[in-house]
Amino acid sequence: MKILLTGGAGYIGSHTALQLLECGYEVVVADNLCNSSYESIRRVQEHTGKPIAFYEIDVADGEAMDALFKAEPIDAVFHFAGLKAVGESVQKPLEYYRNNLSTTITLLDRMYANGVRYIVYSSSATVYDAANVSPRLEDMSLGCTNPYGWTKFMGERIIQDFVTANPEMSAVLLRYFNPIGAHESGCIGEDPAGIPNNLMPYISQVAIGKLEKLHVFGNDYDTRDGTGVRDYLHVVDLAIGHIKALEFALKHTGTEVFNLGTGCGYSVLEIVDAFENTNGVKIPYVIDGRRAGDIDEYYADPSRANEVLGWKAERTLSDMCRDTWTWLQKNPNGFRE
Ligand code: NAD
Ligand code: UD1
Repeated sequence: MKILLTGGAGYIGSHTALQLLECGYEVVVADNLCNSSYESIRRVQEHTGKPIAFYEIDVADGEAMDALFKAEPIDAVFHFAGLKAVGESVQKPLEYYRNNLSTTITLLDRMYANGVRYIVYSSSATVYDAANVSPRLEDMSLGCTNPYGWTKFMGERIIQDFVTANPEMSAVLLRYFNPIGAHESGCIGEDPAGIPNNLMPYISQVAIGKLEKLHVFGNDYDTRDGTGVRDYLHVVDLAIGHIKALEFALKHTGTEVFNLGTGCGYSVLEIVDAFENTNGVKIPYVIDGRRAGDIDEYYADPSRANEVLGWKAERTLSDMCRDTWTWLQKNPNGFRE
């Protein structure tokens, strides 16, 4: 079975490509490399000893996508391609709406025209209305606070409406919580450009001495220790969740939505502790003010994914910290030389 991964050179896509190949699937990647490099694809091929058909194209380019679908008999699509930086989306809303929505619309259109009926979509926990209490359940109210979030919200809606209009189709919308970590081999991992916005990539840069200290955004939240609480899950568990979602999609029609998280929240200081204890490195930090738009805590209720997909996050916080550190030690400059 041949699976197309849009955005497959990126952080989550490359880990999913590796798992798919190890499970015996064939993998095709369409990525314009706007936030990734071909090196991740090369590493996945090297690690698995299996080939990936790679197309350096924009997923919003209908002709290029048509040519891909004509050249490769694709059975199902994992749609990772998109821009994902919240702050940048506030500065450049049109870029985010244009990229994230036009990729989704073109992809659905060209998939359908070429007889491909199954799609698994990368949504985000950010689509839940911040006023909800945790644990977050799939049927809770939705609402976003920034353009990036709205593109995920609208992406879900577009897919759902398209599947309603074409009932022979099958879509699984996956709401990821906070993926961190790396493949345990250290051959692939997260490699953000510039100064990281997200917690674990920032801690990573402090750990290898590229940044002096972590800035903890607020210690006056209504949480155990006053710092923000999130549901961190290992990127390999997330990748496996996609394969479970695919297996489900192949047997059903219609649209289904699942949280992918552990169901367990950790605070910023607990993450710092876990990183220090697991890896025996010190993470100096200072307490700063709150980051605009942050909320105190959110974590998933993952029981639907457990019951319906048979998926459960298996890896611990210590595994996430250890695998991040292995990746960093082997690749202090990420995928760059
Ligand atoms: P990433 O930036 O590492 O990967 C996204 C990939 O999409 C990149 O390789 C990029 O080059 C590619 N891409 C972007 N626009 C494209 C286009 N028009 N045509 C072709 N390729 C394009 O991000 P990631 O962390 O792997 O995230 C994957 C998906 O999961 C994204 O849709 C993101 O919004 C979503 N998501 C990520 C997180 C997270 O914390 N990483 C959380 C929730 C949801
Ligand atoms: C971020 C995105 C969110 C996305 C999610 C996916 C923002 C505002 N939100 O959420 O849309 O779905 O990633 O993983 O970017 N923190 C620090 N210091 C830092 C970085 C983070 O204290 O240098 C804290 C934050 O305040 C938060 C926690 O660490 O409490 C996690 O932050 P982050 O990794 O950016 O993830 P989210 O805020 O959950």
